[in-house]
Amino acid sequence: MTIDYLALGEELDPEEYVICEYIVKSDLDIKTAASRIAEEQSTGTWTHPTTLSDDIFERYGAKVVLAEGNKATIGYPIIDFSGDIGGIPQILSIVAGNLFGLDSLKKVRLDRLYLPKDVVERYPGPQFGIEGLRDVLDRPEKPLVGTIVKPKIGLPPQDFADYVYEAGKGGLTNSKDDETLVDQDFCPLEERVSRVSEALDRLEEEGHKMIHAHNITTSAHEILEAADIAIENGARQIMVDVLTVGFSGLQVLAEDPSVDVPIHVHRAMHGALTRDPEHGISMAVISTLSRMAGGDALHIGTYGAGKMHADISHELICKELLTQEMYGIKSMMPVSSGGLHPGVIGELMENSGNDVQIQAGGGVAGPPDGIRAGASAMCQAVDAAYKGISAVEYAKDHPELERALEMWGDH
Ligand code: 3PG
Repeated sequence: MTIDYLALGEELDPEEYVICEYIVKSDLDIKTAASRIAEEQSTGTWTHPTTLSDDIFERYGAKVVLAEGNKATIGYPIIDFSGDIGGIPQILSIVAGNLFGLDSLKKVRLDRLYLPKDVVERYPGPQFGIEGLRDVLDRPEKPLVGTIVKPKIGLPPQDFADYVYEAGKGGLTNSKDDETLVDQDFCPLEERVSRVSEALDRLEEEGHKMIHAHNITTSAHEILEAADIAIENGARQIMVDVLTVGFSGLQVLAEDPSVDVPIHVHRAMHGALTRDPEHGISMAVISTLSRMAGGDALHIGTYGAGKMHADISHELICKELLTQEMYGIKSMMPVSSGGLHPGVIGELMENSGNDVQIQAGGGVAGPPDGIRAGASAMCQAVDAAYKGISAVEYAKDHPELERALEMWGDH
């Protein structure tokens, strides 16, 4: 009996299949290479198992629906995906599992992942999303503007909280821990949260709403305890590095009733998966899974405006995936961060639109006049772009912005 995983041209019902687009580099012709993926990731192996019947193949075998150039589209029957137990880890074990190690493929990239309603509905999705974050901050339309407290590590809790307070006085709506700061001796989580909460309370009494995302990236068995420590000490937002914690760690937080604050999602380590355009897992796939798992805001890049390597067209796809209709689950706020400063905000906002959280660490902490001035310059740059005025023009009446543009230019 020969099993043929190629069902080219066959129309698959998108409600019955998880459909994946792969970019493939192989010495095999693309149809054979695509078949290898389909068989390895569903009912096949390197030999024909005598136990594989036509019936099993028909029901559970993945189907290659397109194999052209370097692209292979494969549909996995929804029945291959576990129900109550399995979750995103099991989805990834299928769509992004053994295939990456197949010797017959030189490179392969999981570029897009389309999930049917029946699968998406098993996940919480964002608790707050774009609208919820805007409500919390009383900021209905303009981009959110934030900072990452710098230096990345080393500040003691009170200095850290003073930084946040100054950033709020400069007008920022958001601030956050950096991705490597969690509970080190020089700045323990509990004390940091409680000092920052005092700073945020003070800002609110003075008429300014701001939230700070506290990084609780940790092992699975400790993550709820870490969230409790943060929330009990007044955290208004928590944060995880989703790729080091894992999507299921994020989901545990999103589904726990005690976690009643937004979850900020950092993508540290993504470059190992996303950077090679021919190999790995795309940021688009990470975006889809982060939204399903319940993050409220996700770093997706700076549309070429910052320090990180960027593919603008792919970042626009990520933005779309976070914000478009997805079987009724809430949208997720796209976050732009990495090497940003006031001079690049106009360019960034042309691509991002207003539904974006813009964050600058060095861009706020860099100007010599202090954090408050650096934060003001960022807010002024965002206001200028929001009003459709060039930063240079706006700087004529805004000295902090003028100073930042003198330092870094307008480009
Ligand atoms: C981040 O978390 O995105 C980085 O820490 C950004 O820092 P930067 O604005 O100084 O580049």
